[in-house]
Amino acid sequence: MTKGKVLFVSKYGSTKRYAKMIGKATGFKVEELGKKSSVDGVEVVVVGGWVMAGKMKGAKWIKKNWDVLKGKKLVIFAVGGTEPEKPEVNDFIPRSLNGLNLKKVGTFYLPGAIQPDKWGGFHKIIMKNVAKMEEDPEEKRKLSEGVSYVSKKNIEPLLEFIEK
Ligand SMILES: Cc1cc2nc3c(=O)[nH]c(=O)nc-3n(C[C@H](O)[C@H](O)[C@H](O)COP(=O)(O)O)c2cc1C
Repeated sequence: MTKGKVLFVSKYGSTKRYAKMIGKATGFKVEELGKKSSVDGVEVVVVGGWVMAGKMKGAKWIKKNWDVLKGKKLVIFAVGGTEPEKPEVNDFIPRSLNGLNLKKVGTFYLPGAIQPDKWGGFHKIIMKNVAKMEEDPEEKRKLSEGVSYVSKKNIEPLLEFIEK
């Protein structure tokens, strides 16, 4: 069996949910990403991070460990509150990892959730401003009432890439 690991950075739970779904489907170990995370002896590495202000969390770790990661089968997924149909979702990963050659990397955007009831402090202030600036009434409503796009079917293309 292929040895794999799913590493994730999640603040409000959506990225963790996706990481667990991927772990369940693949049999890979699932761990929260930390400074000491190791991928020694791992053949397939899956790294997922949530998106804040257009950038994916966990990108710093990927950059720091790039020399090791580039020799493995690597899958990166970003989880944001933007609808998956919006073209900007394709920019989150390349923008966060600029300078790296991502040609052989499987990169995926998985739609997460907007959970205003969970935001506190700094995040609440930022998101209040984001909602204030939003012109689309439907998007504005989602930013105040919340929405979840998390679904098992969203991980299918990612699983196909792992199996390829
Ligand atoms: C402060 C803040 C900034 C955010 N910025 C973005 C963003 O730029 N683009 C986006 O698509 N989602 C953005 N989001 C939404 C989160 O990415 C979304 O809620 C995601 O599901 C969070 O993942 P988690 O539940 O694993 O923490 C932001 C959320 C917060 C709280």
